[in-house]
Amino acid sequence: MMPLKRCTRGAAIAVAAVSMAAGLTACGGGGGSGDDQEGTEIGLLLPDSTTARWETYDVPLLKKEIKERCGDCTVVHANAKGDVATQRQQVDSMITEGVDAMVLVAVDARSLGAAVRKADQAGIPVIAYDRLAEGPISGFVTFDAEEVGRLQGRALLEALGDRADGGQIVVMNGDPSDPNSISFKKGALSVLSDRVKIGKMYDTPLWRAEVANKNMSGAISALGADTIDGVYAANDGLAAGSISALKANKVTPLPPVTGQDAELGALRRIVGGDQHMTVYKPFGPEASAGAAMAVAAARGENLDEIATDEVRTSDGKEVPAVLLTPVSVTVGNIRDTLVKDGVYTIQQICTPQLRAACDRVGLTA
Ligand code: GAL
Repeated sequence: MMPLKRCTRGAAIAVAAVSMAAGLTACGGGGGSGDDQEGTEIGLLLPDSTTARWETYDVPLLKKEIKERCGDCTVVHANAKGDVATQRQQVDSMITEGVDAMVLVAVDARSLGAAVRKADQAGIPVIAYDRLAEGPISGFVTFDAEEVGRLQGRALLEALGDRADGGQIVVMNGDPSDPNSISFKKGALSVLSDRVKIGKMYDTPLWRAEVANKNMSGAISALGADTIDGVYAANDGLAAGSISALKANKVTPLPPVTGQDAELGALRRIVGGDQHMTVYKPFGPEASAGAAMAVAAARGENLDEIATDEVRTSDGKEVPAVLLTPVSVTVGNIRDTLVKDGVYTIQQICTPQLRAACDRVGLTA
């Protein structure tokens, strides 16, 4: 195994050459009671830096939760920056490093299937985190993704008011190679299809906000600025891209726009009236279940005790899963959700420019 330098108190440092090539960093305790000389090592593989949640919440929370359950665990962390080949290389490097388990958010589920198989053949269990991965995974932690879509769809209908029947919307779906995107879309369309007219619908490779921005401009030119009653955006990045295109094209008033991920920018847009809603998928419980599965898998323990559900993988195998419940957030429940859970303080959300708007909606410290 490649020697790993440890780091203390979360300060990530690059490790051995092979790791550096693949962009891995290691953090955690040194040596200990794992099943090899280096102690127990857990690899975290994130898909991109496009969506803020992965590096801002999931990584630090997973590290903390893993350390709480396993004092001498080392966490090796890699971000594929949206590139399938990079993520494959990162899995390979972790196999070479001899990690004891991996937590994987696949950039592209199908393309990573072979890498998951390779890890399995090397005896390394893979926990699919947030997105179902293809191949022989050992466990899966996520939110009910169809429910996310239904929450978004219902909130949009509510915001459309008397345009909920027969109004026209533009639909910005996520990355088609992310299995969650398919479920978000399915859930949303199950609520929206019979009610509103879908003027234009787009998929958004790699969840890129700038692609949504371009598509929204295209939809405005094709449909006409004043014919768009609402926008279904699958996440906050796509919402941001769509809203800036609506503003650039002087669409006033802005139609209601949905989102997902409870990004700080989205909450500010919600308070300011530019975005109608987001979906909050509490990061803590997801990281806690992911860490519990990863530590148990690394120790060769059974995951059934942690699992609350089962899901069928692409191989037709049932695997232990934890399926969590997403929460719809509009201006009226920011305090009772994100502020209450300590994700953001009112001071963080309420910038000086938003102070008056925050006062109006009761977001005062
Ligand atoms: C999904 C995930 C969402 C969102 C999106 C963009 O798989 O469930 O929370 O972050 O990816 O990366």
